[in-house]
Amino acid sequence: MEIETTCIHSGTKPDPTTGAIMTPIYQTSTYVQDGVGKHRGFEYSRTGNPTRAALETSLATLENGTFGLAFSSGMAATDTILRLLQPGEHVLAGNDVYGGTYRLFEQVLRPYGLDFSYVDTSNLDNVKRGLHNKTRMIWLETPTNPYLKLTDISAIAELAKNHPSQPLLVVDNTFATPYLQTPLSMGADLVVHSTTKYIGGHSDLIGGAIVGVGKPLQERLAFLQNAVGAVPGPMDCFLALRGIKTLHIRMARHSENAEAIASFLSNHPKIEQIFYPFHPSHPQVELGRKQMKAGGGMVAFIHRDGEQAARHMAEHTRIFALAESLGGVESLIEIPAAMTHAATANSPLAVNPGLVRLSVGIEHIDDLLIDLKQSLD
Ligand SMILES: Cc1ncc(COP(=O)(O)O)c(C=O)c1O
Repeated sequence: MEIETTCIHSGTKPDPTTGAIMTPIYQTSTYVQDGVGKHRGFEYSRTGNPTRAALETSLATLENGTFGLAFSSGMAATDTILRLLQPGEHVLAGNDVYGGTYRLFEQVLRPYGLDFSYVDTSNLDNVKRGLHNKTRMIWLETPTNPYLKLTDISAIAELAKNHPSQPLLVVDNTFATPYLQTPLSMGADLVVHSTTKYIGGHSDLIGGAIVGVGKPLQERLAFLQNAVGAVPGPMDCFLALRGIKTLHIRMARHSENAEAIASFLSNHPKIEQIFYPFHPSHPQVELGRKQMKAGGGMVAFIHRDGEQAARHMAEHTRIFALAESLGGVESLIEIPAAMTHAATANSPLAVNPGLVRLSVGIEHIDDLLIDLKQSLD
């Protein structure tokens, strides 16, 4: 099936008891057993829940994986993946990642003995040089948050497979979503999502997911999901499932609007530089066009007059709401250095304080352009 059909049908089938076309919210902690140890597939909702199972199947299908696992947040999904590793092992990560991911790596997991280093993964040589005999994982965002840098997933997968330490390649696909790219089809081992963002799509839930291929990873990660217990409630799974049904049309419109905004900003005298994967000024625009179906809904730019002007602009939009997060139908604006990426302050991953990040929504493009123009004026 094509993704438009998968979005609407994957994971959901009419409820066997009532015929309800939408998967019900199974708001239950436990399940009555027919005899000791004789259950109907569900024992306890930390281990499994039918609404969650529908979401997990849907995500696995969309990402071309053989399994999906849902979590209570993107960070919970990330943390669970890192628990595949042992103290002393090394992760090579991109040097532009979500601030919360960097905080988890440096302030939570490094003290437990994991080692992290960061390189610009858009350059393959950096990745080659960064791998060593203790490297068990490569962690990529593409496009990255917030600079929207791209990495060639197939090329890195090739490098990982041929390296003696056999690192797992993990791609955080939150920004692109499976509508724009499916990293597992390009050789990645695992995909991670903050389903809070485009998967949910309506800024009304916090969730995360892991999707992968093969029994060994599935068994270990499902064990960790149950043992650690950072699982989502059925209501949030229902909302994510509902969001997925329109993922394809939302992503197409987000991308269309964002591309028009990138073009407008690139011609505006108050903008020094814009970052958008499908804009001709992007250094990897060709890779973007090869790897992604469209440019996505995120745009970042540097205000020519610096930090104060950037903040002033972000505080004076009328449709773009000043807020963290991204991926909802409504447009958002933020200053990463002070907001989403504050945890990277004074680190090698620190963000330019004059950088503005837009999560372009699916409102009418003319209204969005008028709003940006008046706030820049
Ligand atoms: C790229 C990316 N990955 C992971 C996360 C973490 O997700 P959550 O906020 O759902 O824990 C975020 C949150 O902004 C993100 O932007």
